[in-house]
Amino acid sequence: MNEQIAYQSADGVAQIRIERPEKKNALTPALYTGLVDAFKRAESDKAVRVLLLCGSETCFTAGNDLQDFKNAPPSDDSSPTVRFIKQLPVTRKPIVAAVAGPAVGIGTTMLLHCDLVYADPNARFQLPFVNLGLCPEAASSYLLPLIVGYPRAAELLLLGDPFSAAQALEMGLINGITPAGEVIATAALKARQLAERPAASLVLSKSLLKRAHARLVEETINEELARFGERLRSPEAAEAFQAFFERRKPDFSKFV
Ligand code: COA
Repeated sequence: MNEQIAYQSADGVAQIRIERPEKKNALTPALYTGLVDAFKRAESDKAVRVLLLCGSETCFTAGNDLQDFKNAPPSDDSSPTVRFIKQLPVTRKPIVAAVAGPAVGIGTTMLLHCDLVYADPNARFQLPFVNLGLCPEAASSYLLPLIVGYPRAAELLLLGDPFSAAQALEMGLINGITPAGEVIATAALKARQLAERPAASLVLSKSLLKRAHARLVEETINEELARFGERLRSPEAAEAFQAFFERRKPDFSKFV
């Protein structure tokens, strides 16, 4: 296991926790590999019935590590990022997520593949792909309009502004907002409640809930990844990544 992905299994629940606080839990190839390994371990362990995905009480994840996007963008299907994105929709056991603080980029899009999502009042969601010269990923261009409707999906994906837990709840993106500081405990309780249900019924019911959209989710992921790979190598993306690390506003005016 990767040391920045903690894995703990008890009471039928595998808790998978992202632990890279000094970089706001930004995801590097090593962390994506750790997540895929943790998901596969939970899927294959008969004692595990539910996955619980979390960061800390102050940070879920700032999304993909922008230094990696800049220096070593994912190049093909074997890249850890792609493997993680493709693992999300094929995970058979229910996934409960606990979100606190920033949930940026894939930090928000991975939630579209979870089954129950709880947020701390301090949660801050954002889909800044366009602002970074990129495009949506993880089937968000398909799943987001499906869940929140086209007008709101367009606002979230095209403007890319941060939004609050209250907005996420109102849009139907999450299941609930917990009292401050209690999101992991609340999500863990829900996960344990699920784990008390008959395991076969859980897996079957999840697959039936997802069945109608499974093929389009897979197709969308592949189409987005092809386009995302092109965008990662675009001058707009280079400018956006550079601007982030120089702590300045990007200037896209010179690109046609
Ligand atoms: N990739 C790489 N490093 C990141 C990062 C990311 N996605 N997000 C944060 N960090 C780093 C910062 O560079 C900083 O490092 P430093 O201390 O060595 O300078 C550290 O984590 C703390 O981040 P900081 O920006 O100072 O924290 P904040 O609380 O002011 O803001 C965020 C938190 C998440 C809102 C902000 O960091 C952010 O917008 N990050 C980028 C998110 C993003 O665009 N992700 C990609 C989506 S596709």
